[in-house]
Amino acid sequence: MERRTKVIAIANQKGGVGKTTTVVNLAAALSARKRAVLVVDLDPQAHATLGLGLEKQQGISLYPVLVGTKAIEDVIQPTKWNNLNVIPSEVDLAGAELEFSAREDRLEMIRNALAPVKESGAFDYIILDCPPSLGIVMTSSLVACDGVLIPIQAEFLAMDGLALITGSIERIRASVNPALELNGIVFTMVNSQARLTQDVMEEVRGHFGDKVYETAIPRNVRVSEAPSMGTPVVFLDPRSKGAESYKAFAWEFMAKNPTRFDAAQVQPQAAKPEPPKADEPQQQDGEPAKDDAAPAVEEPAVEAPTAEDPAQEAPAPADEGGVAQ
Ligand SMILES: Nc1ncnc2c1ncn2[C@@H]1O[C@H](COP(=O)(O)OP(=O)(O)OP(=O)(O)O)[C@@H](O)[C@H]1O
Ligand SMILES: [Mg+2]
Repeated sequence: MERRTKVIAIANQKGGVGKTTTVVNLAAALSARKRAVLVVDLDPQAHATLGLGLEKQQGISLYPVLVGTKAIEDVIQPTKWNNLNVIPSEVDLAGAELEFSAREDRLEMIRNALAPVKESGAFDYIILDCPPSLGIVMTSSLVACDGVLIPIQAEFLAMDGLALITGSIERIRASVNPALELNGIVFTMVNSQARLTQDVMEEVRGHFGDKVYETAIPRNVRVSEAPSMGTPVVFLDPRSKGAESYKAFAWEFMAKNPTRFDAAQVQPQAAKPEPPKADEPQQQDGEPAKDDAAPAVEEPAVEAPTAEDPAQEAPAPADEGGVAQ
């Protein structure tokens, strides 16, 4: 079955709003639902790389692909978990802003670099972790993607920050990437007790309507501890509030961004799920990848439709028994 790959940039020029945490946990939760995911870490801080349990390694990043010394296939790394792959970041990317500023194809460079892997259909989702600035790397990511997901904190001046990035999206859409969409806005590190939080959330929802994801991610200490263990919180502590909300968010994301894989599962008699076929591997969510795990180029097992599937309007996310490792 041919797959159509969705490229999603997770971006906000503001630092520390939860971009990388959202990249890591959205990717993990999607992979646990058997979607083939590639995370591309475009931030020289390499927090997504580390959060997914990989080390920084000289020469293993998008940088050599951008300068034409390596093929993209050579920098895709498997993680410990099935269906979850990453193009890590490394220090060379730190110079990219300056080095690429005069490059003629600077706006299209990431799109061109990703093209072979996007066209191969090997992944359902390619998720880009952008650095916190409106520089070349982020702009070029906006050109490379189909949709932008903006994590924000519900705090004073949130709307101003949103205006900046949505302005950039508008400009890119009007010029180099007419198909670019605002995928959505997700609230992160929410303290639902605070009055200001409620006011800001209401204001943003009033302005952006259904572009704002229903699921808001609460502030949760397990989420902030997970990166030091090199394990996404959805695998490390799947029952924690943070993990549960990232899984619910991933569910909503999948329902809004179906891949062909989802479409193939929608059967006319959706009310009567068929049992899985005997020859289908029965993976555990978050199951560690096997030793020989290669970048997820193989087709994931197509599940029989179940009442849990977002394509069938399940109201709640599945109760996933994620396995840490
Ligand atoms: N829901 C949460 N609860 C508690 N801590 C969180 C949560 N989400 C993120 N954090 C913590 O907040 C800090 C910033 O998060 P993160 O690195 O994801 O932001 P970022 O937008 O990627 O930052 P940067 O702009 O530097 O790339 C991290 O220490 C992270 O562990
Ligand atoms: Mg980050």
